[in-house]
Amino acid sequence: MTAPTQEMKQTQKKKKIALSGIKPTGTPHVGNYLGMIKPALELVKDYQTLYFIADYHGLTTIRDKREMKQHTYEVAATFLALGLNPDEVIFYRQSDIPEVFELTWVLSCFTGKGWLNRAHAYKGAVDANTAAGHDTDDGINAGLFNYPVLMAADIILFNADVVPVGQDQRQHLEMTRDIANAFNYVYGDTLVPPEALIREEVAIITGLDGRKMSKSYGNTIELFAASKQLRKQVMRIVTDSRTPEEPKNPDENNIFNIYKHFATPAMIAENRKKYTEGGVGYGDLKQELFELLDETFTEPRERYNELMANRKEIDAILNQGAEKAHRIARKTLSKVRRRIGID
Ligand code: ADP
Ligand code: TRP
Repeated sequence: MTAPTQEMKQTQKKKKIALSGIKPTGTPHVGNYLGMIKPALELVKDYQTLYFIADYHGLTTIRDKREMKQHTYEVAATFLALGLNPDEVIFYRQSDIPEVFELTWVLSCFTGKGWLNRAHAYKGAVDANTAAGHDTDDGINAGLFNYPVLMAADIILFNADVVPVGQDQRQHLEMTRDIANAFNYVYGDTLVPPEALIREEVAIITGLDGRKMSKSYGNTIELFAASKQLRKQVMRIVTDSRTPEEPKNPDENNIFNIYKHFATPAMIAENRKKYTEGGVGYGDLKQELFELLDETFTEPRERYNELMANRKEIDAILNQGAEKAHRIARKTLSKVRRRIGID
């Protein structure tokens, strides 16, 4: 292989940076896949990409060390099984990059406390307490409150231009921009305010019960569940009591709303017609959806199971990623320290 020319180096340099993270708080599901993992992996060819496991974000809710480890490996194995190539993507664990936490402090000094009061997760917890007649901050840890600052540090440390995520992360990205701009306002152009990359058609994937598919609602279809379990999960999708003959609105149907992301356009058109005119039962479409998912994920599931049985391989990949990430992190943090006069 010939050495890269100056021109090649420059085009490489000009690649925009895409970064995203996922918490190890549960087994990855179809919502994570469609909303974040798949779009993120599609960016690899055009962007310099960094993807990571946000384990310290997970600590706001996970308090069992075995769970923390298990889900960390699950998330890592999921990305790798779905085609993440560690030679192309910097793939690491958040906790391996101590600079993130130093930058979190710096950024917290540029974050309005009022902004954090209005963050959805915190505000939701406060509202739930109020509704239950409890103390406003009952059971809420400061980690949950500061969550958005840690997330801003994850992103800003690596100068990310775009952050592929689902709709639920939009507010976090807006805050990250505000924080970067607040710093830049004082010290001049230093930090990159990132943009959320949210794909309209997969921004909110619905779960078994029609609410947003989420680990915290227990309404997920797990990506790599064994066939039998996968079928069980699909069969649990909630439907109304319409008979096969009755016309149905495909756009208001929990099965169809997942099905349409996996079927071919011809299959979608056919079932859309059958739904609207009557002539297909929910059981039939569930079976079709199950078969599609089973087929789509057969190969990655095998790779996933191999990786889960060989955690040393995962460790080696993440360690290699951490080294690369570390080099970038050090540079940004030095720059920040110089700007604020602590160097
Ligand atoms: P969960 O809600 O299951 O805990 P996470 O918060 O770990 O999921 O989300 C990880 C990534 O997957 C985020 O980018 C998030 O926006 C995306 N995501 C999660 N659930 C969905 C969904 N139902 N539809 C679209 N994207 C989703
Ligand atoms: N908050 C994100 C979620 O719940 C996870 C996350 C942490 C993240 N740090 C990030 C996502 C940085 C994108 C970029 O899914």
